[in-house]
Amino acid sequence: MTGDSRTGELKTGASRTTDLRSVVTGVGGYLPPDIVTNDQLARVIDTSDAWIFERTGIRSRHKAAPDQATSDLATEAARRALAAAGRSASDVDLIIVATTTSDLTFPATAAIVQRKLGAPICAAFDVQAVCSGFVYALSVADGFVARGMARCALVIGAEIMTRLMDWSDRGTCVLFGDGAGAVVLEPLAGAGTTDDRGILGFSLRCEGGKQDLLYVDGGPTTTGTVGKLRMQGKEVFRHAVTNISEAVVAAAAAARVDLPSIDWFIPHQANQRILDGVARKLGIAESRVISTVADHANTSAASIPLALSQGVSDGRIKPGHLLLLEAMGGGLTWGAVVLRL
Ligand code: UT7
Repeated sequence: MTGDSRTGELKTGASRTTDLRSVVTGVGGYLPPDIVTNDQLARVIDTSDAWIFERTGIRSRHKAAPDQATSDLATEAARRALAAAGRSASDVDLIIVATTTSDLTFPATAAIVQRKLGAPICAAFDVQAVCSGFVYALSVADGFVARGMARCALVIGAEIMTRLMDWSDRGTCVLFGDGAGAVVLEPLAGAGTTDDRGILGFSLRCEGGKQDLLYVDGGPTTTGTVGKLRMQGKEVFRHAVTNISEAVVAAAAAARVDLPSIDWFIPHQANQRILDGVARKLGIAESRVISTVADHANTSAASIPLALSQGVSDGRIKPGHLLLLEAMGGGLTWGAVVLRL
């Protein structure tokens, strides 16, 4: 946030006031082994593979085992990201978990991850921006790493969305899945140009007045229950395709890059039709979009780091590539990050 904090404009940021950049040095993903196909859902819910695939592009989703909590998924993704970065838990000095499905009301899932990882005493907290959580968390982490306040930060998106489903609501329960993705962020000196590796710019947005379009109908200070996810799908869809582009353009402007120079577009994986609509609006070719929605469904804050992890592990995304990440979710929140790997 260093760039725009000088001008008092906090909702768009560019890491440009110091030479330090927050660089992704390792990526990891974890998907619980249990896979639930559309056909399996159609045996217990009034739905069909044809409807789900046609409307969303989803074929299957992963489901956490009953004895797995979000922190278990997050910890495994974090271990893999640390290994990819050549770091160990003892190096970690900041843990941020983006989640809307915390293990407990408190402590933060990040604190539980710190214990499970065996990381030293460090800063650890959660970011709650629902499906936009990873974009928000990366931007928050940039505020520490690019100021030299953290040397090995874990930014994790982790969710067990299947536990927030109302299984009698076929309009929502078929859309979500479980998983976790993580990145290691380290400070590296840059030249202050767009050739630098690291986070180059971001934009964050929230319109709280649109809460009713996507929310969970429970909480500790209202119902005293966890609640279930409620969504007006058509309205959320319309909002996504209409408003994400503005945030993407703002993030690209903050980063001072042109959209045609983006190597990979890594959107939040909610619906293939949203991915296609946003890419079309931005003039981004289908061949440059990382899509995992068919196999993962919507894993909320985990979807972007999982897609990033997939793109890196299958060799499409390489060091030096310019990446555009964007998301939209409950709040409503939305935003984008531009970074060079
Ligand atoms: O990550 C957070 C962001 N979330 C999103 O981005 C989700 C955004 N929204 C969407 O992806 C889409 O709006 C949905 C996939 C949720 C729904 O697609 P839609 O084209 O907007 O369908 P609809 O809700 O208008 O429903 C159309 C029909 C309805 O039947 P009638 O009233 O036309 O007879 C629904 O009852 O489809 C029916 N329907 C289903 N049929 C079979 C709804 N859910 C199902 C289902 N299986 N699972």
